[in-house]
Amino acid sequence: ELSPIDKAKYVAAKTAADLVEDGMRVGLGTGSTAAWLVRCLGEMVREDGLKIRGVPTSTRTAELAREVGIEVISLDEARWLDLTIDGADEFDAELNLIKGGGGALLQEKIVATASDQMAVIADAAKEVSALGHFPLPVEVVPFGWQTTQTLIEELLISMDVMGRKSSLRMTGQRPFITDEGNYIIDLHLGRIGDPRQMALVLNQMPGVVENGLFIDICDKVIIGYGDGRCEMRD
Ligand code: A5P
Repeated sequence: ELSPIDKAKYVAAKTAADLVEDGMRVGLGTGSTAAWLVRCLGEMVREDGLKIRGVPTSTRTAELAREVGIEVISLDEARWLDLTIDGADEFDAELNLIKGGGGALLQEKIVATASDQMAVIADAAKEVSALGHFPLPVEVVPFGWQTTQTLIEELLISMDVMGRKSSLRMTGQRPFITDEGNYIIDLHLGRIGDPRQMALVLNQMPGVVENGLFIDICDKVIIGYGDGRCEMRD
């Protein structure tokens, strides 16, 4: 028996899996909700003969996809995708997102941008009136990361945000390292007044590779509830 939160994630994933059709090239997201999707798609491949090729957004997702029987190809092999389905850490009324809680934001953003459609699957708790309560992940190159962090904090002073603290993401005593070999600095902003502007200025800073704001990328959000209900926003 699933807990209410897992049930919410599962029902969103199951509903999203029905958007997948034979022959599609599908971007496979990362995180606990996306893992449900990958398992659902695997079942459809094994039991219903669904024919798809999947482009994973992380090494974790690639392993799971292979394990459940999905044919895995690289983005360069696929070139363009029909649909990407991924989780999110937050979404707002405009379907803008914060992603990267799992650290895979860079590949996730590249894959989602290369897709005709991006659908997000999420439990209802991810919906916010303003993005920023969830720490905004910023992927930075390791070289000079402390200088980059200082520059980001100075930049935040001129932006419409509540908080300006930032922290290097750690795994134990060591910096967390992304699939692309970079670090992540989490920005504790509280509320982002202008997410579009924030996304633009962060990416202009030397040392910043990408940030976790997904602006105008997501086309629909499928929201799952603990009682098994599901709702679609687009
Ligand atoms: C991974 O890097 C993230 O962008 C995930 O999509 C996000 O953290 C959602 O994860 P959960 O589905 O586990 O909440």
